[in-house]
Amino acid sequence: MEEPSDNRQKKVVAVVGGGLVGALNACFFAKRGLDVEVFESREDIRQAKVVKGRSINLALSHRGRQALKHVGMEEKIVSQGIPMHARMIHSLNGKQSPIPYGKKSQYILSVDRANLNKQLLTGKSTVVILQSTETWSINIERFYTVNGTKEHIQADLIVGCDGAFSAIRKQFLRRSRFNYSQTYIPHGYMELTMPPINGEFAMKPNYLHIWPRNTFMMIALPNLDKTFTCTLFMPFDEFEKITTGDQVIEFFQKCFPDSIPLIGADALREDYFRLPAQAMVSVKCSPYHIGDKCVLMGDAAHAVVPFYGQGMNAVSTGFGLGGKGY
Ligand SMILES: Cc1cc2nc3c(=O)[nH]c(=O)nc-3n(C[C@H](O)[C@H](O)[C@H](O)COP(=O)(O)OP(=O)(O)OC[C@H]3O[C@@H](n4cnc5c(N)ncnc54)[C@H](O)[C@@H]3O)c2cc1C
Ligand SMILES: *[C@@H]1O[C@H](CO)[C@@H](O)[C@H](O)[C@H]1NC(C)=O
Ligand SMILES: *[C@@H]1O[C@H](CO)[C@@H](O)[C@H](O)[C@H]1NC(C)=O
Repeated sequence: MEEPSDNRQKKVVAVVGGGLVGALNACFFAKRGLDVEVFESREDIRQAKVVKGRSINLALSHRGRQALKHVGMEEKIVSQGIPMHARMIHSLNGKQSPIPYGKKSQYILSVDRANLNKQLLTGKSTVVILQSTETWSINIERFYTVNGTKEHIQADLIVGCDGAFSAIRKQFLRRSRFNYSQTYIPHGYMELTMPPINGEFAMKPNYLHIWPRNTFMMIALPNLDKTFTCTLFMPFDEFEKITTGDQVIEFFQKCFPDSIPLIGADALREDYFRLPAQAMVSVKCSPYHIGDKCVLMGDAAHAVVPFYGQGMNAVSTGFGLGGKGY
């Protein structure tokens, strides 16, 4: 592979994937005075009206805030987040009991994923949005092809932030002594919306609401538009047992009766079938880098599931913003 001629002043970093980790990384590299180019294969989130992808909101903890602080984004994001001072446990009989996250002044934040991603991308980096019709592949040997045409990446470093199914990581797989494992947990997740009631939050807003139920659970995080996004985590077997609207109501009556009037029985009947339950994968690999040429970060390097047998603790500890890559 011939190297691109190098008469540039600044080091150039190519970040593959403009999700949370890629976008934040781009801010860090730009802050260090490097030229950054972000390659993103989804449509431009900064212009999109409807943003597809996983989880509508996220719990942002102290650790994630520290990362944002370093790139001067903490205040901006925090001001658009909703503090959650405690978990609010919903028992079967409808009783609600708070369990604080820490001292009185401590809290985690519910933030809008799409907005956070947008704000992080609106930094100093150049974002190359690939067209959905283009077949794109990127090679760690520093070239990429779009529609079969080969172009050199004028980059000193390639940073693979392309998520749990990373294309960059695929190229590590062929290398000797690269360990890799991927495991799907038996649980899936489904998001349901709890609308405002008379223009107000249907439940107390400054809590991460949790309905713990043995092998499954539901959580709800508040949004700025006064809705809650409820996420039901449950084994796929259980999801698949429910095939009619009546069965949905029956199931909620058995497990989350207090949520039915809040979500609305009619909405529940429909929303449950809007999208199939989504899978959750855990990915581990080692090493994370190839010399000083290429490094994997975020879910590409280590994807963890938000809920893994530890029940509410996994979520309630607020594992930070992409809490591992950085
Ligand atoms: C249900 C659920 C709830 C969660 N809740 C929380 C939470 O409350 N708090 C928290 O901190 N974390 C949470 N997480 C985890 C969090 O979502 C991830 O850790 C985080 O999104 C990882 O960011 P990332 O940038 O590495 O990957 P992603 O967010 O997956 O971004 C990858 C980006 O790369 C792009 N891409 C993919 N392939 C290519 C390619 N070949 N070329 C170019 N671009 C490409 C994608 O379009 C995407 O924009 C949750 C996860 C799930 C599933
Ligand atoms: C790749 O092909 C698609 C579909 O034919 C086209 O829309 C796109 O502009 C092409 N991209 C480049 C960079 O040639
Ligand atoms: C790969 O896994 C084996 C077995 O656990 C371990 O001995 C080895 O050090 C690992 N290699 C790397 C590069 O992590």
